[in-house]
Amino acid sequence: MNNPITAQQPVETVGGLLVVPFKHPQGCRSYLVAEPTSRKAVAIDPHLDLVNVLAERVRAEGWSLSYVIDTHTHADHPSGAGALAPQFSSTRVAHPKSNHVGVTRKPEDGEALDLGDKQIIVRHAPGHTPDHVVLVTDGALFSGDTLHIGGVARTDFLGGDAGQLFDTLQNLLSTLSDDIILFPGHDYEGRVQSTLGLEKDGNPWLAIRDRSEFVEKLTANPRPQPANMKQLLRLNCEGMNIPERIPAADLVAYVSQDGAGSVIDVRTPMEVATEQVPGSHSVPLDEINNRVDEILRTAAPRFLLCRSGARANKARDALTKLGIGGLTVVEGGLEAYRASGGVTVKGAGHMSLERQVRIAAGTLVLIGVALGFVHPAFFALAAFVGAGLTFAGITDRCGMALILAKMPWNKASDRADSKAGGTCAASAPSGSCAASPPGTTDKD
Ligand SMILES: [Fe+2]
Repeated sequence: MNNPITAQQPVETVGGLLVVPFKHPQGCRSYLVAEPTSRKAVAIDPHLDLVNVLAERVRAEGWSLSYVIDTHTHADHPSGAGALAPQFSSTRVAHPKSNHVGVTRKPEDGEALDLGDKQIIVRHAPGHTPDHVVLVTDGALFSGDTLHIGGVARTDFLGGDAGQLFDTLQNLLSTLSDDIILFPGHDYEGRVQSTLGLEKDGNPWLAIRDRSEFVEKLTANPRPQPANMKQLLRLNCEGMNIPERIPAADLVAYVSQDGAGSVIDVRTPMEVATEQVPGSHSVPLDEINNRVDEILRTAAPRFLLCRSGARANKARDALTKLGIGGLTVVEGGLEAYRASGGVTVKGAGHMSLERQVRIAAGTLVLIGVALGFVHPAFFALAAFVGAGLTFAGITDRCGMALILAKMPWNKASDRADSKAGGTCAASAPSGSCAASPPGTTDKD
């Protein structure tokens, strides 16, 4: 089983504090920072999918989680702050402009959060969003989506301001030393840290010294907004929970608003090739444990879809056991979605699994009856198939369909339709929080 979020993360000591970075396949970074003597800790930007992993690590280390901080209002992933903080009676922290439900500590610029005999300084860092803060400790900068490794954040949604971002970056560069370690809120190439000195030398955005030029280049190439941004903002700001299931009619609405990229179709590849929601991802139920990474890269809320709903429920149970959140079962599956007016695309030249079952079952019954006149024992074959079809009708579980789905001719289209959320690995994905490199044209 390949579950990247449960991989053991190493501890690094920076300025007397223990720092544990956690990577999410979407490119998000969450952090635990602890003061070893008092064993007090803080969680920074906890992703909803990482809540269980973070909580287990806090308990395993014997830390008390004093604070849970969101550096800003996240628009590209669900925050896990509301799920993590109550487990440890932690104080939730965000900038006063954030107005997140459940936040009780709203530090102003320069305010300190005590962590044993150490302090975390909260600095207002507007630009990516108006409510953005960065966190400064002895030797480390947790920059959220202000400064990335080799890049900066985009400023074209949620009230972002490119000029403010320029001012924020100049302020940080002029007041922090070059050897301070940078821990960003995102990295799309698997990197964990840099230093301010390295960024001054190699980050193309920091090479731009003129404010107007910076603003012009950063705003020249707006990228698509993050997938499901509206729903994610309701989750992150209003504390709304992602529902365990939704009526198929709701999925029709999501898909019509460009939400098809969050539909995970758990039917067999053959069924998907026959008919599917355009733009959805195919991850068959029996492959789900081996394709966790792909599911994690799909933007939440993630809609689990099958033919009638039964396999989607099983997929949700399996993924929940792996600690993956943000999962919603589509009630009634593709049949209900289609009946509610949802758009599908049908593949050419593929015989549906249901039709294959009808042909196979009918053929076996015919053979059983014909051979029954040769020897009565063959009537049992026809009776067995009839009983199987009755069982399948009552339980909605068809053994013959499962066997046929594994036949070679039904495997041909495996993954061909999959449009997993992970896009270009060498650059920030479309709809992420990162800006394109300066001077590039939009290739997304
Ligand atoms: Fe962001």
